[in-house]
Amino acid sequence: MTAQLPVRKAILERRTYEAPAEGREGKVRLDFNENTAGCSAAVTRALREMSQKQLAMYPEYEQSTARLARYFDVSREELLLTNGGDDALRVFFDAFVDPGSSIIICEPTFPMYRYYAEIAGARVEALRYGSEMEFPLGGILGELEKEPRVLFIANPNNPTGTLLQVDALEKVLRAARRTAIVIDEAYAEFSGVTMVPDIGKYPHLFVARTFSKAAGLAALRLGAVIACTESLSYLRRAMPPFPVNRAALVAAEAAVRDRAAIRRHVRDIRRVAKWFTEQLHCLGVKTFASAGNFLLANFGPNGPQLFQQLEREGILLRDRSKDLGAGFVRITIGTQAEMTLLVKKIRQLGFSANRRP
Ligand SMILES: Cc1ncc(COP(=O)(O)O)c(C=O)c1O
Repeated sequence: MTAQLPVRKAILERRTYEAPAEGREGKVRLDFNENTAGCSAAVTRALREMSQKQLAMYPEYEQSTARLARYFDVSREELLLTNGGDDALRVFFDAFVDPGSSIIICEPTFPMYRYYAEIAGARVEALRYGSEMEFPLGGILGELEKEPRVLFIANPNNPTGTLLQVDALEKVLRAARRTAIVIDEAYAEFSGVTMVPDIGKYPHLFVARTFSKAAGLAALRLGAVIACTESLSYLRRAMPPFPVNRAALVAAEAAVRDRAAIRRHVRDIRRVAKWFTEQLHCLGVKTFASAGNFLLANFGPNGPQLFQQLEREGILLRDRSKDLGAGFVRITIGTQAEMTLLVKKIRQLGFSANRRP
């Protein structure tokens, strides 16, 4: 029996949602850009200390928001906490995007911009990164003349690793008249570039952040939007009263109190990324400069077979062959031990960039 349900047109037109990979536990997980070393021990200590009463009460946000605002060097009024970075992106659709209105993105990029646009019934104007993964600045400036509702730029971009400097982003901000400019800085701790200090200068600038990457809290789902108080007030109106759970707040506060652990992790990732990139070059694999905790590489026509063999060996990478061409892959930079194992397996499997498949 089929139910007669009043399903929205935008939902009927969506492709079926493909759930994120399950069954990753125990594998070498270089496919989701997580902190594979785990969060700081201060976080697990703080979570263990939570009381039964605390867990039974609805969360309060004022104090935690003030403490987390200090981490970003903004005021409490300039910070909105969200249920993960994904939710920090979704709220723009609820606040600014009517069905049939348009947003701009630059692909390949984080898929959630398109995902939420489809649910909202919005039109997506998509430009492309260049063959060397360069950002199409001229094209974006031109698109802004059409006054789309929102422009999303991941900086650095996932999966290309492309990083725009502040001066390029300021060109974008100056060209926007009635467009919300969202700079998604999920990997800002690794890149060292942030637009947060500019929120007072540009009222249509919104910076999205997450505690899933450098802080290692992906399981707890905590994200944030940072913007000037007045602009942020429109997003607040589109939020539910309890978007963030108490455990996420406790964990994030502990994580930012232990800033040294975050800095150590960033240093480790940069060092391992440099070593791993050199190893790939020795294997004849092309890589693209990345400012995140991941690397886009092109293994050529033998790549897809290699990625499947590695998966059978319990090493997960993100194959991007479908959208970027056979052999493109995004690899999370894990611990030195994980990356050493990966290089060893690639060699053991007899991979050659030049041999015909
Ligand atoms: C560019 C970018 N933005 C946002 C996110 C969202 O992360 P989360 O929802 O775990 O905070 C990710 C995760 O991979 C990402 O790559």
